[in-house]
Amino acid sequence: MDQQTALDEYAVDLEGCSKEFTTPGGETYVAVRDISLKVRPGRFVSVVGPTGSGKSTILNMAAGLLAPSEGTAKSFGQPVKGVNRRAAYMFQQDALLPWKTVVDNVSLGLTMAGAGKAEARTEAQRWLEKVGLKDFADRYPHQLSGGMRKRTAVAQAWIVNPDILLMDEPFSALDVQTRQIMENELLALWQESGKAVVFITHDLDEAIALSDEVVILGAGPGSTVVGSYEITIPRPRDLLEIRDDPQFIELHREIWGRLRIEVSKTYQTSALGGGAE
Ligand SMILES: Nc1ncnc2c1ncn2[C@@H]1O[C@H](COP(=O)(O)OP(=O)(O)OP(=O)(O)O)[C@@H](O)[C@H]1O
Ligand SMILES: [Mg+2]
Repeated sequence: MDQQTALDEYAVDLEGCSKEFTTPGGETYVAVRDISLKVRPGRFVSVVGPTGSGKSTILNMAAGLLAPSEGTAKSFGQPVKGVNRRAAYMFQQDALLPWKTVVDNVSLGLTMAGAGKAEARTEAQRWLEKVGLKDFADRYPHQLSGGMRKRTAVAQAWIVNPDILLMDEPFSALDVQTRQIMENELLALWQESGKAVVFITHDLDEAIALSDEVVILGAGPGSTVVGSYEITIPRPRDLLEIRDDPQFIELHREIWGRLRIEVSKTYQTSALGGGAE
């Protein structure tokens, strides 16, 4: 975080944001309505909600990839205009370039920002070591396992030292064990980093285990924030054990009680053929 960042500034600051899309049939579809999402530096916030409720839309507004139809998107006190340069984005499908080696994929963000090739490569090697891929630097993405590809994507996002990490279901394609290992590694990197994280997931267990706050998005169309919960489970947390923690179990019961209502609304709408997707 740079020196000018005042402590009271939000890293992510969506205020009264709505987003409308025009459907292929020419109709207006309101995806999200009046969303306020504020994330301070150093906070880990997850957004959960049924499919189609606008989770990716919200992340895209924070990233500057989509402009809100109404409301304002700010980052560290400044309106987000164009791509938010203080944020790194981890997509659900990793965005590795198939024709570049692992080390070149990881150093890309630095070279694009103007760093010298040798310097970027050295830094990329350092990150590969951190994420356990030291011996895989010269492989191509298709020669990696799913977990290794995710590790590469993590290194790719972190090497540019962003103030904000926007993560859209980054681990959902992984098997349960690999996923828990990746979650633990993410928390170890994030802890004390001062970075703000907005983490999108379908999985309430994952959201509670990782976060300081879990935000629930209601069923669409016109999804709004229907609940926000502080997760006070002490850190550091061991994600391989946390699901047995009584505090975790209680929070899960409470939040699932709310989320379940939205999930079943979505299924009912779909069953009637009125779903948006
Ligand atoms: N470019 C677009 N044009 C039209 N409609 C869109 C567009 N992008 C998203 N939508 C609609 O907006 C709604 C929210 O989409 P979004 O992708 O944000 O949902 P989501 O919560 O991320 O869903 P999932 O959990 O399935 O990833 C959906 O109904 C979707 O069909
Ligand atoms: Mg999505």
